[in-house]
Amino acid sequence: MCGIIGYAGHRPAVPVLVEGLRRLEYRGYDSAGVAFIENREMHILRAEGKLSSLENKIAGSSHHMATTGIGHTRWATHGVPVERNAHPHRDNSGRLALIHNGIIENYQEQKSWLAGLGYTFSSETDTEVLVNLVAEGRKHTQTLMEALSWALARVEGAYAVALLSIDEPNTIYAARQSSPLVFGRGVGENFVASDIPAFLPYTREVVFLEDGEMVKLDPSGWQVFDAKTLAPIEKELNHITWDVQAAQKGGYKHFMLKEIFEQPRVVADCIAGRADAVHGVRLPELDGLAAPKRLHIVACGTSYHAGLWGMGLIESWARIPVRVEIASEFRYRDLILDKDDVVLAISQSGETADTLAGMRRAREMGATVIGLCNVVGSTVSREADHVIYTQAGPEISVASTKAMCSQLTLLLLLALHWGRQKGTLPADAQASAVRGLVGLPSVLEAELPRMREVAQSLSRKYSSARSFMYLGRGVQFPLALEGALKLKEISYIHAEGYASGEMKHGPIALIDPEFPTFALALHDDLFPKVKSNLEEVQARDGRIVAITHPGLELPVDDAWVIPEVWGPLNSFLVLPCLQLFAYEVADYLGKDVDQPRNLAKSVTVE
Ligand code: F6R
Repeated sequence: MCGIIGYAGHRPAVPVLVEGLRRLEYRGYDSAGVAFIENREMHILRAEGKLSSLENKIAGSSHHMATTGIGHTRWATHGVPVERNAHPHRDNSGRLALIHNGIIENYQEQKSWLAGLGYTFSSETDTEVLVNLVAEGRKHTQTLMEALSWALARVEGAYAVALLSIDEPNTIYAARQSSPLVFGRGVGENFVASDIPAFLPYTREVVFLEDGEMVKLDPSGWQVFDAKTLAPIEKELNHITWDVQAAQKGGYKHFMLKEIFEQPRVVADCIAGRADAVHGVRLPELDGLAAPKRLHIVACGTSYHAGLWGMGLIESWARIPVRVEIASEFRYRDLILDKDDVVLAISQSGETADTLAGMRRAREMGATVIGLCNVVGSTVSREADHVIYTQAGPEISVASTKAMCSQLTLLLLLALHWGRQKGTLPADAQASAVRGLVGLPSVLEAELPRMREVAQSLSRKYSSARSFMYLGRGVQFPLALEGALKLKEISYIHAEGYASGEMKHGPIALIDPEFPTFALALHDDLFPKVKSNLEEVQARDGRIVAITHPGLELPVDDAWVIPEVWGPLNSFLVLPCLQLFAYEVADYLGKDVDQPRNLAKSVTVE
């Protein structure tokens, strides 16, 4: 999983590539590199670590005036994250340079075959195998484009690639199979990249490439082809309306903090045109689709937690049996699915390999797939039978925050929509839910600064803990899981999320004064049960922080009191508290909040 960019135009290419890579760094930051041609020679500059290392290297080299080039930011899959494995990779002749996002599954087999022909390799990467396959393809074909097609036909796996050759110094060839790739049309310049922000300062005219497509671009033209037959394909240009500003920090210290504070707007945008007091709930995206008999929710990580949260509401309001599964499990199970089943694939990026594989299996088995995703034009959105966009805007921080808020909003709307369709939800409950949702952005707006202050002071007190237990029941249980995930992924403090009632079946053995508990103890039917679970923790000298509602008595060290809103909407106030607590702990400990170690924003590999 990596970020790629190609530029063919009239400006010096290197700064354009580096700026593009900066916007793609969320996709991986183990190493970075660029390739361009000057004086009929292929120049490749690469550096281990973050983009700044590459920038230092570029600053220390001569002034580069090439106006075409390719660039890459890497998240290691094959080969350790060191410079020799950084992209771009060149072929043995030095005439070709290639960048790649994805995994070539049969690269060992191809490598042995090429080695038998006399090719040598200086890295452990599958990409170096691919660029040498293109070189071999040159011997069997007439043109560079045919050679790339020849090579791609020999590889299995996922890729988005871009190729530069000394033979056609102003042209880039790029192709995709199961990894994202978008083309950007400028004036006298053209772009190709893993994601739109990479070239958004220069153009808003984009083409979403499909699997099996190849694009040829130079400063004055572009054409998409079928990568196998090389038959030209007509593509539609899309106009992007959001701007680069939306993809920048806007005065916040980190993207994560900015994105947490965007949540009031996210809820407002999610419900705009979909819910209001006059019309109730409308989901035009599902027009013509009856309420499912059974629903399977498939997702990973934070999106999976959102799915678990949605399960309770959909079952209770729409009386639809729901099963929520981790996509990497679902995709390999002996599934029982048929045409009456609906699968809801939830994915912020819309590119998560496991979720896509789950969706594809479901469709093969005849089920209808609804994609709930944030990135317009992503693979989930294009492969689903119906797509609902969460409209949260670009999420840059690796730790997902506002995307989950948008997913919860849409899941709530789905439960209302199906509840109304089936007549299982009383009109007054519908009205309360919609009224509550409409009022939610202003409650959140008012509360977020206060929440941050509390999170800040708690972070000072608890950031020396080595482990944390997160507890919740009912609709708050998935949030306990999410709170633990947020803390561990950005602060590297171990954290476990548990259903409060499950504590006594094992984890309670861990409790001691050094192992604090973060409890969700809100004013609902299960409050007395949660309270007695916390008494059990207290009896073992465990320290407790609890998010709770005004007027509730609790045996805790720190009660974090938040205002009470209507029913399940309380989760929308709990979520930012959990996110802010994790954020403040990580920031206090000096961690790299937006780019935590070993992680990447969209997990396009298995
Ligand atoms: C955690 C996080 C991940 C993602 C997961 C799924 O903060 O961001 O757990 O939620 O990788 O990603 P999407 O939603 O893009 O499919």
